[in-house]
Amino acid sequence: MTSFVNHQIRLAARPVGMPSRNNWSFTEQIVGELSEGEVLVKILSLSLDPAMRGWMNEGKSYIAPVEIGQVMRAGGVGKVVASKNPDFALGDYVSGGLGVQEYCLMTPADLKRNNLRKIDLRLGTLYQWLNVLGMPGMTAYFGLMDIGQPQPGETLVVSGAAGAVGQTVGQLAKIKGCRVVGIAGGKAKCDWVVEELKFDACIDYKAGAVKDGLKEYCPKGVDIYFDNVGGEILDTVLTHLHLKARIIICGAISQYNNTNAVAGPKNYLSLLVNRARMEGRLFLIMQIVLMRLLLNWPTI
Ligand SMILES: NC(=O)c1ccc[n+]([C@@H]2O[C@H](COP(=O)([O-])OP(=O)(O)OC[C@H]3O[C@@H](n4cnc5c(N)ncnc54)[C@H](OP(=O)(O)O)[C@@H]3O)[C@@H](O)[C@H]2O)c1
Repeated sequence: MTSFVNHQIRLAARPVGMPSRNNWSFTEQIVGELSEGEVLVKILSLSLDPAMRGWMNEGKSYIAPVEIGQVMRAGGVGKVVASKNPDFALGDYVSGGLGVQEYCLMTPADLKRNNLRKIDLRLGTLYQWLNVLGMPGMTAYFGLMDIGQPQPGETLVVSGAAGAVGQTVGQLAKIKGCRVVGIAGGKAKCDWVVEELKFDACIDYKAGAVKDGLKEYCPKGVDIYFDNVGGEILDTVLTHLHLKARIIICGAISQYNNTNAVAGPKNYLSLLVNRARMEGRLFLIMQIVLMRLLLNWPTI
């Protein structure tokens, strides 16, 4: 086998607040001969997901933390450059938990754990497989459809509207006949969300416009709020709910680098007054499996 030199970024110390250079170590390793059942993937692109910040923390969560010294966990797409596994051939494009490195050597156990699967570039580009056809797209779809249950004519608000999850949520809700209002940071992003993604409106939270924007663009209140950011924006949206509103807790990016306790919603009694509900949703591998079955992707 041609010898491959791998470069990796490893977690060297757990960050407190915003991560910095000191939290990382950079290593180089020669990739050895493959054993039976193993696959070597050249990584072509990685997804830098907000969730990665949580994986750096110690403590119980929905997934084990990245250990000190371990290659940083990340989802990515790549190409098989060596294989001793009959399910993966040289040149196959794949997606899965590849880690922040140049090459990923997967044992049969890793293949399962990191959900390595073939992807079909006729269905989408490499980047679309990381975005709308990947984890963020599935998160948007299942969160919106299962919890949001959008109905024509309803008003949906989504924060992080220009981000990977938010942009998909808004476009799906438009397809479902909702009036869609995004919340994003800065004029350029807000213009893009309206002009390119065809949302009905987008509120610039960096201009302090959330309260007035909700009043202006959601005069009958918010039926569905897809929350990607938590914090103050969540609190403000809670004061504008319509009866029987549904709130999807997808993430709380405004809180991830907090050194204090996560700020909880002050205005939660609005859920009581409006007979509304708020539900968290984690994207799970099962949902990718389900999508593949629905779309008959296993045949590639
Ligand atoms: N539940 C799940 O299974 C699941 C799966 C995937 C993602 N998520 C969560 O969904 C959220 C969005 O993920 P994504 O992949 O779409 O992320 P993304 O593409 O990286 O976009 C995140 C955006 O959040 C905005 N943001 C950052 N700090 C903020 C703050 N303090 N206040 C308000 N907005 C802020 C930024 O946009 P602006 O420039 O507009 O501020 C940023 O571009 C995250 O909270 C993530 O953890 C959850």
